[in-house]
Amino acid sequence: MSVPGRAVLITGCSSGIGRATAERLAARGWSVYATARDLASIQTLASPNCRLLRLDVTDPDSIQEAVAVVEDAAGAVGVLINNAGYSQSGAVETVPMDLVRTQFETNLFGPLGLIQAVLPGMRRAGWGRIVNMSSMGGKLTFPGAGLYHASKHAMEALSDALRFEVRGFGVDVIVVEPGIITTGFASAAASSVPAGTASEGPYDDFNSAVAVVTQMVYEGGALRRLGGGPGAVARVIERALEAKHPRARYPVTASARLLMTARKVMPDGAWDAFLRRQFPQPGPH
Ligand SMILES: NC(=O)c1ccc[n+]([C@@H]2O[C@H](COP(=O)([O-])OP(=O)(O)OC[C@H]3O[C@@H](n4cnc5c(N)ncnc54)[C@H](OP(=O)(O)O)[C@@H]3O)[C@@H](O)[C@H]2O)c1
Repeated sequence: MSVPGRAVLITGCSSGIGRATAERLAARGWSVYATARDLASIQTLASPNCRLLRLDVTDPDSIQEAVAVVEDAAGAVGVLINNAGYSQSGAVETVPMDLVRTQFETNLFGPLGLIQAVLPGMRRAGWGRIVNMSSMGGKLTFPGAGLYHASKHAMEALSDALRFEVRGFGVDVIVVEPGIITTGFASAAASSVPAGTASEGPYDDFNSAVAVVTQMVYEGGALRRLGGGPGAVARVIERALEAKHPRARYPVTASARLLMTARKVMPDGAWDAFLRRQFPQPGPH
């Protein structure tokens, strides 16, 4: 059940989940506006149901411009899919503050800017759906990815408040929580780990291990078998958009359900003990 005339604006369509979602929704008759910071990266998505716009979520002008184009054409953004994001990995102490800020600009402040830009149109229309891409990492935290997890935990909290605040205007807020999804995400996360500034730095071994473990998990670890491809997330998003009453949260893949349940039931000490089997703990040698 697509909703003719209701425009779907998706961020981060150059690859992975955003691309798969744009393809799936356009094929199912939704009126999709696929966006990316580099238009050339999404040229192959263009079709009668899929228009292309440049949108860098860290650039407020590009947010305003993209939303204005959709509103001129369709009256309002009907569905916003806040998908763009990445993991700025590395031990918390080792990530320079400018990279921390860019992480939050991309994963939280950009999506928030979009939410604020589309809501007036959704309220006028009396209908809207906001899909915020969180992660199982919005409910649990792995060492070496604290900044990414902080941004996704914040996305969860923001979505909970927003769900209450906008429901009366006919707007649903939906959180999507993927687990292990094979996209460019893992290699981007692994290569984001800061290189040691001095050899034998206190976190050098740890940061190297984080990069290796991240790649391993996605390439062939046991968890990989409980994960999925980007199409699995696109299917869940479609289901959430077509539901008469969408749920507040949609975990995607068994990896997400398993790990989020484990984190919920394990006391902090047990969780940390579990993590010590996966990561070397930094400390004086
Ligand atoms: N893969 C997973 O296991 C997994 C699990 C849980 C949650 N997620 C979440 O799913 C979302 C999509 O990730 P993915 O797995 O599809 O990874 P991906 O293939 O690396 O895609 C990330 C997308 O975000 C875009 N992006 C990054 N910075 C941007 C910016 N400033 N403005 C606009 N777009 C920007 C990238 O565009 P460029 O090509 O321009 O860089 C790319 O299109 C992210 O929010 C991620 O946190 C992924």
